[in-house]
Amino acid sequence: MEYKAKPLPFNKELTGISKKTVEIHHDKLYAGYVAKLNEVNAKLEAARDNEEMKAAANQTYSDLRALRMGEIFAANGVYLHEAYFNCLGGDPSAPLGTGGGKLADAIAAKWGTVEKFTSIFSAAGMSVRGWVVLAYDANVNELKIYGADSHDQGGVWGCIPLIVLDVYEHAYFIDYGSDRKKYIVDFWKNLDWSAADAIYEKIMKLNS
Ligand SMILES: [Fe+2]
Repeated sequence: MEYKAKPLPFNKELTGISKKTVEIHHDKLYAGYVAKLNEVNAKLEAARDNEEMKAAANQTYSDLRALRMGEIFAANGVYLHEAYFNCLGGDPSAPLGTGGGKLADAIAAKWGTVEKFTSIFSAAGMSVRGWVVLAYDANVNELKIYGADSHDQGGVWGCIPLIVLDVYEHAYFIDYGSDRKKYIVDFWKNLDWSAADAIYEKIMKLNS
């Protein structure tokens, strides 16, 4: 089944992050991952009956390895970007955590305050090369902050992303140069807490 690119979930100018950056990020980079995911999926589908390819499978290099590695890189590239865009478009004048509902309560219960949580998450954003994820980790039934250097590195299975920050340079370089710290400050201004809370409350309902 062909995967369809999702439209941006917001239709407004963000604070600090320009329209140009968002367009390149969503329409070119994200759309590119969707196209590659579909291409890899089609090739893996065809490979099901390709006895020659299966017999030649090799962990150092083989056509099947290239497809398997490409599959997770593209799939995570798609899902992480969707989770990132999903939480943008909030009201920058609202106090931190506004609209966060039960998620904001759970964050405060675990980290003390929402401000403390964002300081820890932001520092994680300065310590990795790709992604920071606030996830619901179903293995331990807890909120966790995980960092990753790449789409296919650092992910933890059994986790559902709630708040996702893209710290690849393409996410901010046009607008902030090398000042990633300022980009992360603005990320929180743009965050739509209610979008993250909607996912969290869905999970809580499933758990009850
Ligand atoms: Fe990105």
